[in-house]
Amino acid sequence: MVKRLERTVLLSEYEWNELTSEDQGLIQMAKTAGKNAHAPYSNFMVGAALLLDNGETLHANNQENVSFPGGVCAERVLLTYAHANYPNVAPLKLAITAKRREGERYASVTPCGICRQTISEMEMIFKQSIEILILTPEGKVLKAEGIDQLLPFKFSDLNG
Ligand code: THU
Repeated sequence: MVKRLERTVLLSEYEWNELTSEDQGLIQMAKTAGKNAHAPYSNFMVGAALLLDNGETLHANNQENVSFPGGVCAERVLLTYAHANYPNVAPLKLAITAKRREGERYASVTPCGICRQTISEMEMIFKQSIEILILTPEGKVLKAEGIDQLLPFKFSDLNG
C-alpha cells in the first residue's frame, strides 16, 4: 500500500486597504529598497523589508554578479544581514516586491527555493514563524503565515 504524505498550504490575498498600516509600511519599504537593486544582468528589481521583534525594520535588494551564481536574492541579503547584526532578535515579517526595471507593474513572484530554505532556517533558530507578504501585480498582497505555507516539505534535520 502506497503511503501518501499530504500537506495543505494556504496563502491569503488582501486588498491594500485591508492591510494594517504596519504591513503597508513594510511593503512600501520593500518597493523603495527594490529601486537600489544591483540587477544589471536580469533587470529584475527585487526589494525586501523585514520587521524584527524589537520593532526595528531593515531592508535590502538583490545583488547580482557578473559571475551569475555569485548573485544573491533580496530575501537572503536581508535575512543574513539581519541575523549577522541582530543574532538574538527574531524576524517577524518579511515583505517582498519585484518588478522589471522599466516596468510599471509589479511581478507575480514568490521567494525562490533557496530563499524559502533560508526563511525556514530563521524560523528554526527563533522557533517562531515568519509572516511573508508579497505584493501582487494587482496591488493586492499575498500573505503566508509562515514558511510551511511555501515550503511544506523543507529540509530541516541532518539526522532525520
Ligand atoms: N531574485 C530574488 O531576489 N529573489 C527571489 O526569490 C528570486 C529571484 C533575484 C535574483 C536575480 O537577481 C533576479 O531576481 C532574477 O532572477
